[in-house]
Amino acid sequence: MKVLIHQTRETATECVAGLIVDRIARDPDVVLGLATGGTMEAVYDDLIARYRATGVSFAQAQSFNLDEYIGLTPDHPCSYWAYMREKFFHHVDFMPGRTHLPRGDAADPVVEAARYEAAIVAAGDIGLQLLGLGANGHIGFNEPTSSLSSLTRIKTLTQSTRDANARYFTSDDDVPRLAITMGIGTIMRAQDIVLLAFGANKSRIVAQMIEGPVSAACPASILQMHRNVTVVLDEEAASALALRDYYELVHPRVAAPAS
Ligand code: GLP
Repeated sequence: MKVLIHQTRETATECVAGLIVDRIARDPDVVLGLATGGTMEAVYDDLIARYRATGVSFAQAQSFNLDEYIGLTPDHPCSYWAYMREKFFHHVDFMPGRTHLPRGDAADPVVEAARYEAAIVAAGDIGLQLLGLGANGHIGFNEPTSSLSSLTRIKTLTQSTRDANARYFTSDDDVPRLAITMGIGTIMRAQDIVLLAFGANKSRIVAQMIEGPVSAACPASILQMHRNVTVVLDEEAASALALRDYYELVHPRVAAPAS
């Protein structure tokens, strides 16, 4: 696991956007695995800025998002379809039909989950998977006690996850209780994984993910078993790491810009 500790959220975000752009430059038809959540908003803003400034193109790439709430149509304003359209897809040159999310409004979510898993396999699996980190250690919507070899399926959200995501909904009761999510086994088939986490409220779970035991109690800890994972943190998210000096020895922090 490569652990990169940045002084600020801004430089951590630039680092992640840079890794994505570098991958597209090397591999224009890469299959990207994309994530939602507050942390990712700045990454998409940065990618849009690079698209406008440098012309980096997503036209040959494909994307598969991690998850979607069950019960929300793609045009529901709180759906992850809407998030991705508004915060990223509408601003860059992805080709229609090459961006994928599960359908939260599918008549049979079990069938939809199997269809989505098969579509990822048919695309050759994910080349570069972008991940955020839930405060309880979830990746995608793989909540604690998820099978560490699970495939795309339906998950019941924990109350803490529903509370954390309630800010996107008009009332707490509107937050869906179920989601379709890529499984942990699906995510682990990705060639490369980049996880981004910010803030003191993530520090405890970041330390469990990197330095704790591999356990379904902290689903993100399975990333210790993947060969190509880069974890990008700001100072606050890194603050509970016991081996922080070692990570900074291997990958010295980027110096603060001169003021
Ligand atoms: C949601 C998403 C996750 C994301 C998490 C963290 O639960 N399903 O993929 O990692 O939010 O969100 P935030 O970045 O807002 O902390």
